[in-house]
Amino acid sequence: MRIAVLGATGPAGSGLAARLASVGFEVVIGSRSKYRAMEVRDKLVATWPEIDLDISADENSEACAEADVAVIATPWDAAAATASKCSQSLRGKVVISMANALAKVGNEFQPLVPPRGSVAASVQAAVPKSLVSASFHHVPAKELGDLSEPVISDVLVCSDHLEATRTTIDIVSRIPDLRAVDAGQLSNAAPIEAFAAVLLQVNVKYKTRVAVKFTGLPE
Ligand SMILES: NC(=O)c1ccc[n+]([C@@H]2O[C@H](COP(=O)([O-])OP(=O)(O)OC[C@H]3O[C@@H](n4cnc5c(N)ncnc54)[C@H](OP(=O)(O)O)[C@@H]3O)[C@@H](O)[C@H]2O)c1
Repeated sequence: MRIAVLGATGPAGSGLAARLASVGFEVVIGSRSKYRAMEVRDKLVATWPEIDLDISADENSEACAEADVAVIATPWDAAAATASKCSQSLRGKVVISMANALAKVGNEFQPLVPPRGSVAASVQAAVPKSLVSASFHHVPAKELGDLSEPVISDVLVCSDHLEATRTTIDIVSRIPDLRAVDAGQLSNAAPIEAFAAVLLQVNVKYKTRVAVKFTGLPE
């Protein structure tokens, strides 16, 4: 499976791209600038010479055309427009939204309410012919991108499309120590995205980077 990560020149997208490539996915680094995408690709390959990372680089819409699945890893207010620009090449494909709508006000992280209630819902509206899921919101970028260590977290997945839920769960499950949790319909993207503000606040308070783990789930 080939996965395009749009906005993969930022910490979240590049960390996810590296992690996905490390478990055998073909990954395309997407950016508004092919040159920036190539720089990030070269940096990832140079950082992990001992790992065979199958990573290419392209402008966002080209990356989508080459891929089976796309991940939107841009700032929240660019996610729907980024997806919309690639709508033709994303038709019929699973599109995973990982963006959180947050504002930092002083030392406080505040969740915002984007149009349609969540970033993922606004992405789905922008690409109605695609199968949008919401996932990876709470996995810290630094841990995702540090391939020398496992990344340990539960990862909530929600979508209105069974195929998108299944595909996203399959992708998450390929990464050792990440556990995918089916969180239902895309309407749950709103509280999932907003909860990222809580986690960031906890990080500030305790000077750490927390991740999510649920108890009570069957093994
Ligand atoms: N940081 C984390 O730990 C973490 C964890 C989970 C989820 N997230 C979410 O993941 C998303 C990305 O986080 P990040 O910290 O990597 O973000 P970021 O560095 O601010 O942005 C990522 C990339 O998005 C592209 N971009 C920026 N503005 C854009 C615009 N107006 N239109 C289109 N593309 C634009 C840029 O790539 P180009 O200029 O190369 O196009 C940029 O490098 C956020 O929504 C965040 O909430 C973050």
